[in-house]
Amino acid sequence: MAEPNIDGKLAEEFAVPAHVEEVKERMTEFARCHASEGRRVVVITSGGTKVPLESRTVRFLDNFSSGRRGASSAEYFIEAGYAVIFLHRHRSLYPYTRMFSTINMLDALQLRRDSGEEVVVNQEVLPNISKVLKRYQEVKERRLLLPIEFSALSEYLHLLKATAQALSTIGSKAMFYLAAAVSDFYIPASEMPEHKIQSSNGPLQLSLNMVPKILSPLVKDWAPQAFVISFKLETDKSILLDKAKKALDTYRHQAVVANVLDTRRGYVVVVTRDTQVELSLTDEDEKRDVEIEERIVSNLTSAHQRFIDQQKE
Ligand code: PMT
Repeated sequence: MAEPNIDGKLAEEFAVPAHVEEVKERMTEFARCHASEGRRVVVITSGGTKVPLESRTVRFLDNFSSGRRGASSAEYFIEAGYAVIFLHRHRSLYPYTRMFSTINMLDALQLRRDSGEEVVVNQEVLPNISKVLKRYQEVKERRLLLPIEFSALSEYLHLLKATAQALSTIGSKAMFYLAAAVSDFYIPASEMPEHKIQSSNGPLQLSLNMVPKILSPLVKDWAPQAFVISFKLETDKSILLDKAKKALDTYRHQAVVANVLDTRRGYVVVVTRDTQVELSLTDEDEKRDVEIEERIVSNLTSAHQRFIDQQKE
């Protein structure tokens, strides 16, 4: 069973999103449909969670995550034949459109000189647009990507639980790729002021509770047959691998992708109980725009296949 009070704690201290049951049904249907066609399904969590300080929220705590790892990984998983549930932070980077996230839409469009009304794409601003658009539309038509959004930590926790329960129906064909940067601290609903905190009351002192480690019930109870990958982020390289191994010992899941904040775009270590594989990009790779996520996904999809084969033996 899960640690005694995680389910109770989730229900009591984290507001349940109104649409959670409807989302769960959509995910169950998505997973069943793809698994029946022989496809594996990966849940990617992506982006940072927001922790409100007031229930009518004016201020909140946030973190650095851009969602780029999750968004680019989604594309590589789809290329590898997976269907993807993309559980992501509202307005964080999104598969395919991520490539144009820094472009001002109005700079990318122009009025045709001769007609004056008709709008055309400026190919200089968006040189790859037709290739990316074609792929995006194929993925949409084949319903290979199911996007689900969260903003607050409470939404993330309840939606991840619902996702795990929805995917328990497809057993080892499910993979969890937990790349989101989830807050470790929060203010319980019962202790949160309703209205905006007033600066006229002087300096603000916050006391934050620890967020329950959701990995534990996910692995043990909600999706016990799934292939589960967590991520470990540190800023101090010297403690990274020990922390990754400790996470594996504690949660008993299949792998941890360990990364350091400053070097995360070019170097990670995939740690399992028996192996430690370093993945990195050379200067040459970077010149060719190779992304580290392509290597991470390739490593993990092979490991997932071996995991499925072992379950059959
Ligand atoms: O989004 P980018 O800018 O591209 O950056 C990618 C990344 C650095 C955010 C990503 O590679 C990464 O490392 N994500 C995990 C960051 C992290 O802070 O992990 P953690 O030590 O808080 O949590 C460990 C694992 O448990 C994570 O997989 C997390 O998703 C999961 N977790 C954490 C807390 C919690 N309450 N429940 C969880 O399931």
